[in-house]
Amino acid sequence: MMSSLHLLPIPHAYFMFVWSFLTSYGLIHDGMPADEALHVLTSDFWSWKLREFPELATTEGIHDYDDKLESYSYSNFDLRLAYCKELLAELDIVNKTSLSRENRLTYDVLKDQLNTFIHGYEWKE
Ligand SMILES: *[C@@H]1O[C@H](CO)[C@@H](O)[C@H](O)[C@H]1NC(C)=O
Repeated sequence: MMSSLHLLPIPHAYFMFVWSFLTSYGLIHDGMPADEALHVLTSDFWSWKLREFPELATTEGIHDYDDKLESYSYSNFDLRLAYCKELLAELDIVNKTSLSRENRLTYDVLKDQLNTFIHGYEWKE
């Protein structure tokens, strides 16, 4: 499996993503309205899922990722875990109380999904 990984194209954008991640993700900042901060985190998580799980994107009717195989990114196992932990840490900064009622639900769903990913990965280790 390892040897075949070298043959698969990894988009430049992916390295940019990894780079920005390694140099502190910092998607949200102090003073950002809670609803806006939540929107930034939710959008990032959605884009991340489409990038990491192209087969999911296809299921969702988004075909930009059809040519990529999910398996190539299994080598990024640790990065996935780190990403989810970082996003969860950022979500914890968002003041849930000041979110709109609808966004409080979104907040819970996002948090639940991140915890599911994180615990799923920790089981495999
Ligand atoms: C969170 O938001 C609520 C409502 O806007 C506010 O009363 C509270 O002080 C905020 N908490 C923090 C820790 O900023």
